[in-house]
Amino acid sequence: MAHACANVASVSATKHIAVIAGDGIGKEVIPQAVKVIEAAGAAVELTTFDWGADRYLADKVTVPPDGFTILARDFDAILVGAFGDPRVPSNIHAREILLGMRREMDLYANVRPVRLLDASLCPLKGIEPKDLDFVVIRENTEGVYGDLGGVFKQGTPDEVAIQEDINTRKGVERIIRYAFEYCASNQKLDGSPRRRVLMCDKSNAMTHAGGLWQRTFKEVAKDHPRIETQHMYVDALCMQMVRDPREFDVIVTNNMFGDIITDLAAGLQGGLGMAASGNLHPGKTSMFEPVHGSAPPIAGKNMANPFGAILTAAMMLAHLGTAGEAAKIEAAVLEAVREKKTTADIGGTLGTREAGEWVAQRVSRR
Ligand code: NAD
Ligand code: IPM
Ligand code: MN
Repeated sequence: MAHACANVASVSATKHIAVIAGDGIGKEVIPQAVKVIEAAGAAVELTTFDWGADRYLADKVTVPPDGFTILARDFDAILVGAFGDPRVPSNIHAREILLGMRREMDLYANVRPVRLLDASLCPLKGIEPKDLDFVVIRENTEGVYGDLGGVFKQGTPDEVAIQEDINTRKGVERIIRYAFEYCASNQKLDGSPRRRVLMCDKSNAMTHAGGLWQRTFKEVAKDHPRIETQHMYVDALCMQMVRDPREFDVIVTNNMFGDIITDLAAGLQGGLGMAASGNLHPGKTSMFEPVHGSAPPIAGKNMANPFGAILTAAMMLAHLGTAGEAAKIEAAVLEAVREKKTTADIGGTLGTREAGEWVAQRVSRR
């Protein structure tokens, strides 16, 4: 009886992770992330899915029937690489898999931490790791990503294309609440509390959507009197991000602005190869992916930086409650950066596999 109980406990403690490497460099960086997860000794069971361009080109399937239902029902988290392949110019598989997952699984909070591991990685003068530790909370299910709209009189001189921008009270309120709650319950890396939420929009030009964001932000802020609030238009925010990013703490914004400013913010961290993200819905199966895409020009060349994917894996493990393993991984990546055991994009001489292997070895020794 005692034996049976022990088994049940260990089975339920094992986290089930779906792994979808996808296309291009996704197929190179995700195996490195998996290797590092295994080296960390986390109690996980990994199941690989072949969704992506190859599968689509073979059988025209993007998401198999009940695919999202299975992910939500049978898995604790999903680790994704990237989607996008020149052989699929319509990009239909990326929209149906990636944007489909975010929308169908209602993963409304795209959490994109922006951290500088080493001063040498930042293109700005005088910025130290302690100066760059903010997070972008991107609305992930609405905005211009709803694919609502259409084309009228296509191919004629009178052609009209309409792309709708959806902003619901529910959607805007829940992402703003998420940002305030994130601010209240997360510390910076140096242990100091987070204290400010900045809402970024373009309400001077996009008055209808901006008005809803502005009103909702002010209302939700009243429930968090100890958190400072700030507002910036997205254009001014971009300028400030490259001029002096030190004051940023928690930024909340819509789907498209969040997409754009997180590539800019990745540049501050050492480039797209360093940026991690989580697509979350508290209490539901969430999805984790590096911020970068499939990077066709460098795909298949063992050149891609695997650290964004590896840091994403750490973020996923922390989310699953295995903070010790996540910390080991982050520490090993930091060591690799300091010792220049990296790919060329951040100054090293290693290939994707070798950089991943170096981190995995360090992790297994910790
Ligand atoms: P991208 O992020 O794929 O790459 C832009 C450039 O950044 C690359 O050419 C490369 O020079 C560099 N880069 C990116 N990741 C790197 C890494 N890990 N290591 C070293 N250098 C890296 O953006 P893109 O070129 O605009 O998009 C390519 C394809 O990826 C498109 O089909 C796009 O839609 C798709 N995409 C997918 C995702 C995703 O699945 N999450 C995200 C972004 C773009
Ligand atoms: C990202 C990507 C996607 C997005 C693309 C591939 C649709 O750029 O995850 O940042 O715009 O959300
Ligand atoms: Mn993007």
